[in-house]
Amino acid sequence: MMENQNLRPRRLRISPAVRRMVRETTLSPSDFVYPLFVVPGEGVREEIPSMPDVFHLSVDQAVETAKQVYELGIPAVEIFGLPEYKDADGSSAWDPKSPVQRAIAAIKKAVPDLVIVGDVCLCQYTTHGHCGHLSGRYVDNDKTLPLLQKVALSQAEAGADIVAPSDMMDGRVAAIREALDAHEFINVSIMSYAVKYASAFYGPFRDAADSAPQFGNRRQYQMDPANVREALKETDLDMAEGADIIMVKPAMTYLDVVSKVRARINRPVATYNVSGEYAMVKAAAQNGWIDERRIVLESLLSMKRAGADIIITYHAMDAARWLMNGAE
Ligand code: PBG
Repeated sequence: MMENQNLRPRRLRISPAVRRMVRETTLSPSDFVYPLFVVPGEGVREEIPSMPDVFHLSVDQAVETAKQVYELGIPAVEIFGLPEYKDADGSSAWDPKSPVQRAIAAIKKAVPDLVIVGDVCLCQYTTHGHCGHLSGRYVDNDKTLPLLQKVALSQAEAGADIVAPSDMMDGRVAAIREALDAHEFINVSIMSYAVKYASAFYGPFRDAADSAPQFGNRRQYQMDPANVREALKETDLDMAEGADIIMVKPAMTYLDVVSKVRARINRPVATYNVSGEYAMVKAAAQNGWIDERRIVLESLLSMKRAGADIIITYHAMDAARWLMNGAE
C-alpha cells in the first residue's frame, strides 16, 4: 500500500482532457518571431547549407515569406541582412538602399500589421567582421555608439517597429533611445540583446550572414557562458537605459538565465533559439534519429516554461503549422 493515498499525482494525468485542464504552460504562434536573411538581387531564394529550410531571400522573396508568416499567426519577423558592400565602419548597415532597409519598407507596405524587428549590429557590414569600430585590434565601445544610433535610425525610418541591438556595446540602449526620441520615433521599441553570450551556437548564422570575425573572437564584448550574476547586471543596466524587452541568447543551454531574468523584471523577456541549436535538431531529424515535431515543440515549450514571453526561432513557421494542426 502507498504511504499516503491522498497524494497521487497520476490522477491529474489520467486523460488528455484532464492533462489539458491542469497544463501550466501553452505554446502559440503568437509567441514567435521569425528571422529573415535578406540579400541583394531579385528572385533569390537560396537554402542556407547549415540551416536546412532557411533561405537567403531577396527583398521580393522576403515579402512573400513575410506574408506567409503573417498568415500563420506569427506576429513578427526580425530582419538580418547581407549588404552589397562592406567597409571598416560597416556603413552599409545604415544605407537606406541596403537590403535590410528596403526589406523593412517593402514588408511594412505589403503586410502592415506584421511587427518588424530590425537587428542592429555591424558585424555583417564590416570588413573585419567585428561588431563595432576598431581602434587597432580593440573594438572601441564609445566610437561604436554613434554608428549604432545611425543603424537604428535608418531602420526606424524604413518602418521598423522594434530595433534590436545585438552588438553588446555598453550604453547602446540609452544611445539608441536618445537618437530615436530626438527624431520623434518615440514609439519605436528597443528589444535589447541584453544577455548575449559568446557562444559556439552562433556558428551556422555566421556562415549564413558572412559575419565571422576575421581575427580573434567576440569575448571582449559578448558574455562569458560561465556567468549568471553578470546576466542580471546586464539586465539591470539595460532596464535603466530604457530597454522595452530584455533578451537572453542563446536559449536552450541558458534557460536557467531566462528563468532568473524573468523573476527579476516586469518587462517582457525574449529568448533567441539560435542557429546552432536549430542546425543540431535539423541534422538529427534528417538522419531519422529524432521526431522533429515533438523535439521542436518540447524545446519551444521549455523556453516558455522557463519564462520567455517571446521566442525568436527558425522553427517558427513549422511550429505554427504543427500547433494549428493540434499538438498532443
Ligand atoms: C549579430 C548577430 C549574431 C546572431 C544574431 N545577431 C551573431 C553573432 O553575434 O556572432 C546569432 C543568431 C544565430 O546564431 O541564430 N551580432
